[in-house]
Amino acid sequence: MVKTITTALPKRLNERNYMELIVPYVDAMQNMMFRIEALNKDFSRKYQNDPIHHIQSRIKTKKSIEGKLARLQFEPTVENARDHLTDIAGIRVICHFIRDIDWIVDLIKKQKDLIILKERDYIRNPKSNGYRSYHIVFGVPVYHTDGMDYYPVEVQLRTMSMDFWASMEHRIYYKKEPRQPVAQEMLVEEFLGYAKQLEEIEAKMERYCED
Ligand code: GTP
Ligand code: MG
Repeated sequence: MVKTITTALPKRLNERNYMELIVPYVDAMQNMMFRIEALNKDFSRKYQNDPIHHIQSRIKTKKSIEGKLARLQFEPTVENARDHLTDIAGIRVICHFIRDIDWIVDLIKKQKDLIILKERDYIRNPKSNGYRSYHIVFGVPVYHTDGMDYYPVEVQLRTMSMDFWASMEHRIYYKKEPRQPVAQEMLVEEFLGYAKQLEEIEAKMERYCED
């Protein structure tokens, strides 16, 4: 018997298949938000204190997916987005202090149905420009009619001062083409200095929060 081999052609991203692509990522992201919010509520009930200041979430836009695939030198297809991007779904958790971040990371990692795909502690090991945050990409189970698949959700945890620094740096600098190399070098130094100052201020404030 002759077998016909049908190899599906890679699907170039368009508005329609982008909307299809993101469906399970939205589910995975909402699932993860629920888990984090539940921990915050439980903590708040027990200790009359909220470890989380606020949470943001976003699904990468079609344009941003295309841009990132291009930077990684992949064609802008649905398959490449699925295979090579782990930040289509992203959650940012903004806490008061580092201890709150450690507490959330500890408890979330104990949830047995989640898998950890990538973990970067830029708090203990800041990037050379001063960027600090705790990044974990979780594989979140999403159930569908034929079974279950894990979908990646990138969770970034930071304190308010780290978020302030990162937002400013992102606005001014991150991923921009160098225009004036000298000015750029000075700016890097300046931002590194700000990161250190903010870290000191935060550590001083945390002293008043001993319990
Ligand atoms: P991306 O291609 O930017 O997603 O980086 P990556 O895949 O190498 O992963 P990494 O963990 O380094 O960074 C993931 C995300 O963290 C970025 O998309 C930003 O949101 C944030 N981030 C990382 N480095 C910096 C930085 O130097 N400045 C700012 N403002 N944000 C950063
Ligand atoms: Mg990213």
